[in-house]
Amino acid sequence: MLPPLITKQLVTILGEERLLLRSEDLQYYGLDRTTIWQANPCAVVLPGSIKEVQQIVLLAKEHNLAIVPSGGRTGLSGGAVAKDGEIVIALDRLNKIREFNPLDRTVTVGAGMITENLQNFAVEQGLFYPVDFASTGSSQIGGNIATNAGGINVIRYGMTRQWVAGLTVVTGAGDILELNRGLMKNNTGYDFRHLFIGSEGTLGLICEATIQLTRAPEETAVMVLGINDFPTVLDVLQTFTSKIDLTAFEFFSQLALDKVVAHQGHAVPFETKTPFYALLEFETKGDEVLELAMSLFEHCVEQGWVLDGVVSQSLSQASALWKLREDISETLWEFQPYKNDISVRVSRMPDFLDEVNKLVEQRYPDFEIVWYGHIGDGNLHLNILRPVHLSNDDFVAQCGAVSNEVGQLVAKYEGSVSAEHGVGLLKKDYLHYSRSASEISLMRAVKAVFDPNGILNPGKLISAKQD
Ligand code: MLT
Ligand code: ZN
Repeated sequence: MLPPLITKQLVTILGEERLLLRSEDLQYYGLDRTTIWQANPCAVVLPGSIKEVQQIVLLAKEHNLAIVPSGGRTGLSGGAVAKDGEIVIALDRLNKIREFNPLDRTVTVGAGMITENLQNFAVEQGLFYPVDFASTGSSQIGGNIATNAGGINVIRYGMTRQWVAGLTVVTGAGDILELNRGLMKNNTGYDFRHLFIGSEGTLGLICEATIQLTRAPEETAVMVLGINDFPTVLDVLQTFTSKIDLTAFEFFSQLALDKVVAHQGHAVPFETKTPFYALLEFETKGDEVLELAMSLFEHCVEQGWVLDGVVSQSLSQASALWKLREDISETLWEFQPYKNDISVRVSRMPDFLDEVNKLVEQRYPDFEIVWYGHIGDGNLHLNILRPVHLSNDDFVAQCGAVSNEVGQLVAKYEGSVSAEHGVGLLKKDYLHYSRSASEISLMRAVKAVFDPNGILNPGKLISAKQD
């Protein structure tokens, strides 16, 4: 329950309509896409300016109230879950374009702007915002920055971090910081902008961002290839990347395809069933690259690596092929999947995959496992589907124990326990497999600088005290 004094002060800052206390609103704003925790915030506030965000943070700091920053709540690690009576600050109203500069090719937007709206704005200017993933229709740019979102184009364009030229944040201390001013070159000491990118709302609230845009790609083609086994997916990757600058190299398993086809009604790419599928995308540049891609495809068939394949002949066919990959995540929601989002360097992927696969077969003999991911970036999504007879708690406990073993393998291969979804609540216990004890204690020290009272997203990413 929000104390009456705080309610009064919040109403003074925001006006009555911007303070939400109804249970439906608390439920709606208190959860992300995870299905493990229950929402239980004490209030939701919808500030309309950076100044209002600052006033709310100062109030929360004075009264030691915890805050959960909230974007589109499409996160998969519990980073935006408010389960312990926190105040949710949702930045939905900070969704405007403040400035566009065609010469710099930068656009300054409010953190609450929906990612797809930013992509569309770029297209209207004859430009391109290349960070893309299935939930861009509801995710917000501030949340993307706070989690350093990845997606399907990372192999060519990198993560969100690469496109952030400037940030305005309100720290947990209540300071407004304007970081990097949209500059391309700026060697003036510590670049705090990069600390806030991927900080999961633990250091400050990202309120505004200057985003770098780029030239739109030429016409692209999509290929889907049917592949026999895991190591071969990597042979195919190497064959293509040695000759073509791919814009995507994704993979998914037969089970993933079966589920998408059954649930979304999409057509299969070809009749041959294969254990794995790779989806490649590249700029065609006339017919030149397309011809090269076809010759590489034939080479892969001759080697016995690829059993069947299809290449898009039109934009609509390309987008239909993409749907086979992009719709997997949404398709799986009804099975309440437990998600692992792991990465290693691509060169280590064959051995790592072999070990993870063996571990999973041994530890999850009766569970349905759905593999997919951005294998061209070394990033695997390992989704364990909840059997109907298992309670959510038992399921999460069992998967957590296996995640611990997956974490040990990640450590052995010097990889990451969270390639792109973020740590949040879900992967906090496994963070030490990717980051050393010294690093984690430095993270705590950095948090204490920007959020001295520990009010921002407490319990996410790192715990307040040494475990
Ligand atoms: C994806 O690659 O589809 C996204 O990261 C979402 C997910 O893993 O479910
Ligand atoms: Zn992904």
